[in-house]
Amino acid sequence: MSRILVTGGTGYIGSHTVVELIQAGYQVTIVDNLSNSNIDVLQGIEQITGVKPDFENVDCLDYKNFNAVFDRFPDIEGVIHFAASKAVGESVEKPLMYYRNNLGSLVNLLDIMNQHKVKNIVFSSSCTVYGQPDAEHLPVDETAPRKTALSPYGNTKQINEDIICDQAHAQKDLNAVILRYFNPIGAHPSALIGELPNGVPNNLLPFVTQTAAGIREKLRVFGNDYNTPDGSCIRDYIYVVDLAKAHVKAIDRMLNENGRDQVEVFNLGTGRGLSVLEIIRGFEQATGVKLNYEIVGRREGDIEQVWAKADKANNVLGWKADTPLDAILLSAWQWQQRLS
Ligand code: NAD
Ligand code: WQD
Repeated sequence: MSRILVTGGTGYIGSHTVVELIQAGYQVTIVDNLSNSNIDVLQGIEQITGVKPDFENVDCLDYKNFNAVFDRFPDIEGVIHFAASKAVGESVEKPLMYYRNNLGSLVNLLDIMNQHKVKNIVFSSSCTVYGQPDAEHLPVDETAPRKTALSPYGNTKQINEDIICDQAHAQKDLNAVILRYFNPIGAHPSALIGELPNGVPNNLLPFVTQTAAGIREKLRVFGNDYNTPDGSCIRDYIYVVDLAKAHVKAIDRMLNENGRDQVEVFNLGTGRGLSVLEIIRGFEQATGVKLNYEIVGRREGDIEQVWAKADKANNVLGWKADTPLDAILLSAWQWQQRLS
């Protein structure tokens, strides 16, 4: 049984990925400093899988203690690196915090992996690296140019990708898979793990479910005058469990397949663009709950439309995001009901 280290493994996407790794037969060690997650997540993982993963309450910026985790688990064969700060708005307010955490954590990790001869890393990147793709690049594939980042957070993802490429160039035995997530939503169907709200949500789905639950009075739809069929923005919303499964495929590939490129980049999306208004209608249909919403002005810095061409992940990883939208939206609602 191969052991995988998962940084940020008690977080939203990390916890769902730990579940899928365990169910696929991997042993898992989580490193998380609990800066944006809760220790109770471990119980949820155990209830779903019957296995409690090894947990290390360690900050990736703390080189000594991070390094010691690799001493304690000499059988680590690969790392999935989720740990990062991820709030776009906060990154504009506190850029140094974002550069320190998101760059420092990866630099420490790559250094420590090299010391311990751990050669496989999967990295959480984001569709934010594409910015607003030009019309001829929609749906966007992995060869589309990266655009100047609109936030320090987005910039850290671009620099992280570059750091991995530079290190792979210098260290020929390092293998990397860079996964560019589109918009992850939903929760595990058991409703035992999901996304933990942190104050007033910025992301659409937590705002939708909190409004449905009566925690927020009204959802504000940011703009209906975009150049899209119904005027609201379009995104590629991907179910977090489908997303988690792609990580298992990426790890399987790194551990078992020859003839890979040293650094591979995959979009993780559904290939389907949905508007904000379609999400609202879909939520109402899936749950039977009426949403109180109003159209307001555009949100500064919003991208009009972006969705993925996911053929590379479909064909090379043998993975497809195929959970129906109503099941995804229902899972988000069931998780919200458990929280409230
Ligand atoms: P999350 O905040 O739920 O999870 C991140 C986890 O990392 C948290 O548990 C946090 O406590 C931990 N962490 C942060 N800094 C750490 C440090 N220095 N040391 C140890 N642990 C640390 O976020 P998420 O939504 O699960 O995102 C996971 C990754 O995916 C992040 O890298 C994020 O940038 C990326 N991503 C997220 C989205 C999204 O919309 N959720 C989209 C694209 C990419
Ligand atoms: C989705 C759509 C809003 C809230 C962000 C990050 C990006 C990535 C994913 C990490 C947009 C609209 C939202 C609301 C609304 N994260 N909306 N009312 O902006 O695509 O991306 O999360 O890498 O980097 O920027 O996601 O969920 O904030 O918005 O109308 O109350 O919902 O305008 O069209 P976004 P989002």
